[in-house]
This record gives sequence, C-alpha cells and structure tokens, in this order.
Amino acid sequence: MPGTTPRRDVSQSLPGRVLIAPSLLAARYDSLATEVAAVEKGGAEVLHLDIMDGHFVPNISFGADLVKSLRPLSGMLFDVHLMISDPLAYAPRFQAAGADHITFHVEAVQDPSPVIRAIHDLGCTAGLSLRPGTPASALLPYLQEVEMVLVMTVEPGFGGQSFREEQLPKIREFRQAIDALGKPIRLEVDGGIGAATAALCREAGADTLVAGSSVFRCPDGDYRRAIDALR
Ligand code: DX5
Ligand code: ZN
Repeated sequence: MPGTTPRRDVSQSLPGRVLIAPSLLAARYDSLATEVAAVEKGGAEVLHLDIMDGHFVPNISFGADLVKSLRPLSGMLFDVHLMISDPLAYAPRFQAAGADHITFHVEAVQDPSPVIRAIHDLGCTAGLSLRPGTPASALLPYLQEVEMVLVMTVEPGFGGQSFREEQLPKIREFRQAIDALGKPIRLEVDGGIGAATAALCREAGADTLVAGSSVFRCPDGDYRRAIDALR
C-alpha cells in the first residue's frame, strides 16, 4: 500500500492480534526498498526502526532522512525505537519523517513525562523502553501515559544477539500491570526473537514482536514463512 498514510495509534491497531515488527537494522542495506516491500508482502504490520546515536548505545545506525525516504514506499505502521541520549530534541525530526509511533528509553531522561507529552503533541503514540538491567519499577509509574511498553530482551545496540530468558518475568509483570490498568497498551519485545523465543514471549504476555535477524536473515529467504513462524 504505497503512499503517505495517516498516523495510527499502535494501541488501537488490530486489537487482539499479535503484531510482527521486522527490524530494519538486519535488512540488506544495498536494497532497502526491496527489503521493506518484501516484509510487508510477507504479512508484517509494523516496521521497527532502530535509531542509535553512538552515545546512549555504542553503535550508530541511521537517522530521520532514511525513515523519510522509506515512508512513501510502505503502508506499515512506522515504529521508531530511539536508543539515543536526547529523545526530546530528536522526536520532532522522526515525526516529520513519518513515524507513527516513537519509543524512547527510561534510562535516557530524568523525567519521561514531558517527553511522552511532546511525542503526543506531535501526533504520534509514545512508548517507553528499558534495558535488561532496569527493573520494571522504573517504568511502571509512567505506564498509564504510554501506548506501548518495549521490553529489551538483549542489551540495546546490536542485532543478532541471543535472547535473555531472565527477562520473561519482567514481561509477565508488565502484562499484569497493563491488564490491571485496563488500557490497551501494547507490550513489545525486542532482541533475539525467533520462532521459539517468540512463543515464550507470547506466553508471558507480549503482543508485539520485533524481529531482525530471524526475518531478514532467515536461511531460505522466505520472509512470509519467517513472519508466520513468530505468531
Ligand atoms: C537492538 C535493536 C533490535 C535489533 C533486534 O538494539 O533494538 O531491534 O534490531 O535484532 P535481532 O532480532 O537480530 O535480535
Ligand atoms: Zn529495537
């Protein structure tokens, strides 16, 4: 579905459905347009865009100009994951580039609330994420303000790492808190997600699955099959 699409609320999109969000970080950078079209054709509803600044994480990925050039090519919901030290300063650029949703890290800011408000004022939905070493309690006070929680199941910064099973209790904790709140907040997981670990995360209560390597680097190149295997 090419063309510009209106901003969509990730928490209201396809309620009850497990959403698959291939991470562009693992795509072939010499053919990004083809890669994006292929995961959309393969059934992905969301495109996960990992933004790294070389400061909050020890790696640099890509910026808003790249997001902007991909926006007209796809009807997928654009899910921007900011792994950067100053999300407040850069959120407007990603909104202007066509992000539907913007997640930032609770560790990056003193007070998440003004950043969440700024993202909402831009017309995007907002998400909060936390590193594996950060307890759920650091994010829970802001839960009712966001449309998505992103539990990192690897240390942010690089694709292709192994899933950290010790994060499962944290996913369960957020599932309980979200259900208790009664708000349709999406619970996303990111890092080392393949068919087997996706099943563990779904069982723990995750409903939105980021997958880089297991989709874009699947051995047979059949993205549809790789995406189907995650649901
Ligand atoms: C890691 C990124 C992830 C990464 C996932 O910092 O946030 O989105 O691309 O890649 P895989 O699925 O290969 O672990
Ligand atoms: Zn990510």
